Amino acid sequence: MPNIKSDNPLIAGKNMTHVPQPCTLVIFGGGGDLSRRKLLPAVYNQALDGELPANFAVLGFALEDMDDVSYRDFAKKGVEKFSRQAVDDHHWPDFERCLHYLQGSFDNPEVYQQMKKRLEEIEATFGIPGNRVFYLAIPPALIETCVRQLKAAGLVMPVDDVSPFSRIIVEKPIGRDLESARQVNATLCSSFDEKQIYRIDHYLGKETVQNILAMRFSNVIFEPLWNSRYIDHVQITVAEEEGVGTRAGYYDRAGALRDMVQNHILQLLTLIAMEPPWSMSADVMRDHRQSVLNCLRPITSENFDQHVVRAQYGSGFYHGEDVPGYRREDGVSQDSTTETFIALKLFVDNWRWAGVPFYIRTGKRMPKRASEIAIQFKSVPPILFNANHDQPLEPNVLALSIQPNEGLSLRIATKLPGAKLKVFPVKMDFRYGATFGEQSPEAYERLLLDVMAGDASLFMRRDMVESSWSWIDTILNTWSSSRTRWLPEYSAGTWGPLEADRLIENDNRKWRLL
Ligand code: BG6
Repeated sequence: MPNIKSDNPLIAGKNMTHVPQPCTLVIFGGGGDLSRRKLLPAVYNQALDGELPANFAVLGFALEDMDDVSYRDFAKKGVEKFSRQAVDDHHWPDFERCLHYLQGSFDNPEVYQQMKKRLEEIEATFGIPGNRVFYLAIPPALIETCVRQLKAAGLVMPVDDVSPFSRIIVEKPIGRDLESARQVNATLCSSFDEKQIYRIDHYLGKETVQNILAMRFSNVIFEPLWNSRYIDHVQITVAEEEGVGTRAGYYDRAGALRDMVQNHILQLLTLIAMEPPWSMSADVMRDHRQSVLNCLRPITSENFDQHVVRAQYGSGFYHGEDVPGYRREDGVSQDSTTETFIALKLFVDNWRWAGVPFYIRTGKRMPKRASEIAIQFKSVPPILFNANHDQPLEPNVLALSIQPNEGLSLRIATKLPGAKLKVFPVKMDFRYGATFGEQSPEAYERLLLDVMAGDASLFMRRDMVESSWSWIDTILNTWSSSRTRWLPEYSAGTWGPLEADRLIENDNRKWRLL
């Protein structure tokens, strides 16, 4: 199969403004799960693909008792288990030289002085001009401590034309409501300039998510139809097969609305609903996405149940095995009212989307892992091929599959072969794997390179985080005033509760079968 990427000069040509700069990546929580599963494998894949800057190093920083040698071993095990590409034993010894470790406590000022010294040594060895990316892969409660210590140790450089750069990457959750999100943002902004802050949402790094913009704005055929005149409704599904697993401590305090909707799903929605930006620059892109958040119609307590359904998984099946219900999972309180599933109907109140419902559903312990955005167009008029009221034609649907089979498909009506004039829906399918013949880079790979290149367009700005929380808070407030002691249940391995079906069926529509 030809390599479409390298054989095509238009694709192979790099965008010269987007070049990852030499730097040291300092991973706070470098001995933790995110580091082992995602960050170190991401760096390794970038190295294999030749995407890293020539002068680059990693400094893992955490409490775990390790040194450079054992950290390299820890990294190799993580890469072996979780990397997109297998470990190349030829290449590994050369790669692992860039991995270093600093053991210490996040609140100890002396450790930050040691960090400074280690960084200077590493920079001298690797020819790195003092640029540093601090990745906070730590629980949210530690953000404030780390940020203040970095500042106090003189590790945050000013934003000007002469200093090396200091950038900070912050993981979700940024707060658990508007007020706490504001506090986290205030802490970050007390030590770093907004231009230095990269609030990561890994959904924005997924290949198909980025393709939403490419598809909308590099084809002429979609945009003229992309409005309430032609679109009947939009469905966004993010279904997970797994249960809460080992994360009950975090999840039972969060739930699906905070864990998935506030960040990932609202971000998907902004990409679908935004106006065409006039430039790809970070602030223009984010201004346009922010405008969508500004237009979200608040879900008030009136008609609340017609717009919001939450539920919890009960016992059921996962890959043919019995699995316990949510309240029986390790670490979950037996009277928990945390939702593991949510379905929403929402509206974007602007000219383009007036009256178009967006139906959203996400949950754990669903029948399969499948994330999709489906744009369902309006029906053709009830004449000619659509004249039979008993068998209306199925409308066109553009379905963007985010995972696991990345691609897009368009449902169109065609004539069935034969003497009779019968119309039948068929799908035009595009799959990344089939066309490009290789696995797409993982979201973290792309996003880390963006930070090294100083491109914040796929990261969340302060106002975006706060606007999302402000919208989410109205739902949280209604829930907390209802003082529910029991949530509807759905059996593990099913598509959610009956109430979720009713939410969409009351509007004479149906959830898509995935
Ligand atoms: C995380 C959530 O942000 O995203 C998890 O905290 C969820 O609960 C995960 O499982 C889903 O990510 P992905 O990339 O596997 O769809």
